[in-house]
Amino acid sequence: MAMEESKKVVCVTGAGGFIASWIVKQLLEKGYTVHGTVRDPSNNAKCGHLKQLPGAGERLKLFKADVLDYDSIVPAVRGCEAVFHTACPFFWKFDTPDDVLVPAITGTENVMRACSEEKIKRVVMTSSGAAVMFDPDRPEDKVVDERCWTNVDHCRKNERWYLVAKTEAEKTAWKFAEEKGLKLLVVCPVYVFGPLLQQTLNTSSEYLKEVVEGSRNPSPSSYIPLVDVRDVAKAHILAVENEAALGRYFCVALSVSHRDVLKSVKEKFPELRCCAHEGVSETSIGIPHAGRYDGIPPEKIGNKKTTELIGGFIPYEQTLFDTIASIRERGFLP
Ligand SMILES: NC(=O)c1ccc[n+]([C@@H]2O[C@H](COP(=O)([O-])OP(=O)(O)OC[C@H]3O[C@@H](n4cnc5c(N)ncnc54)[C@H](OP(=O)(O)O)[C@@H]3O)[C@@H](O)[C@H]2O)c1
Repeated sequence: MAMEESKKVVCVTGAGGFIASWIVKQLLEKGYTVHGTVRDPSNNAKCGHLKQLPGAGERLKLFKADVLDYDSIVPAVRGCEAVFHTACPFFWKFDTPDDVLVPAITGTENVMRACSEEKIKRVVMTSSGAAVMFDPDRPEDKVVDERCWTNVDHCRKNERWYLVAKTEAEKTAWKFAEEKGLKLLVVCPVYVFGPLLQQTLNTSSEYLKEVVEGSRNPSPSSYIPLVDVRDVAKAHILAVENEAALGRYFCVALSVSHRDVLKSVKEKFPELRCCAHEGVSETSIGIPHAGRYDGIPPEKIGNKKTTELIGGFIPYEQTLFDTIASIRERGFLP
């Protein structure tokens, strides 16, 4: 979609979320008219920030919709050129597996069905590195990129329900797209950091806060793959605008050790009491993952396809600093 066609209408599901808010912001900046779905338009804590975005007054319309309620989705996607499906619960722990499996999988089915019925030209789904990275059978020397899939049976056995949910939801979307001839693009971001637009603390921002304040202790040598939320939003939009875009995009700027993350943050914010964690041996990189992972080393990260789509990533230290500044501004860190 070129700028001269700037009056095009698009829909973003789960518009008040961390990533979706940035997609909405960038879409409005580019002149799009945006239909944003939210579960409760009157909840200012969750969607008040959307109404403040430049251009929102004229070109953002919020629709009350739950992805589990097919009929609520249809009016939001009706008349849209493209739909960005981001809505999905993202937490580490759920009371029951269905708390994430059902909204992820059935929610995706409902959105895809509505898109098919309403003849939407392009659907961009926010999947996750959770659907790409976790396979204990993958050879150590293999580069991880969008050709990789998480081993869902292994994750199911280990009760890693978020990983199962994201993988199954994405597979559901591909199956549906193929059967119905729908044009689907999928963005698979790893840990997403960067400035918050919303006032609440989303799960990935909370992870960084906990690492910095020392209440979460990943092994210093373990790697965390990360990407800036502004680049993630850009990838979603370019997946629609770039006619040549195709398939999955593993959206990762780089993989960095927790030791280096803390070092950078401490240098920039010496007044913050960052704990060093040396010697602590929690091997998790945060997502409670299956298998032997201690994170993916930098040289095994394959981000060529997304680099070509978006033209390069925001430097990771900038991402970290902007996240911390934003979290502090909202009072979640001293
Ligand atoms: N942040 C990351 O590091 C990361 C990495 C990879 C992939 N992702 C994916 O990115 C997407 C957005 O995540 P986020 O980090 O932006 O999290 P977030 O801020 O918690 O946003 C999640 C959004 O999903 C909505 N939602 C949940 N269940 C819904 C339902 N049944 N019907 C409609 N909306 C529903 C939430 O709406 P309410 O406000 O009404 O609760 C919220 O707007 C998710 O698909 C997540 O799996 C995130």
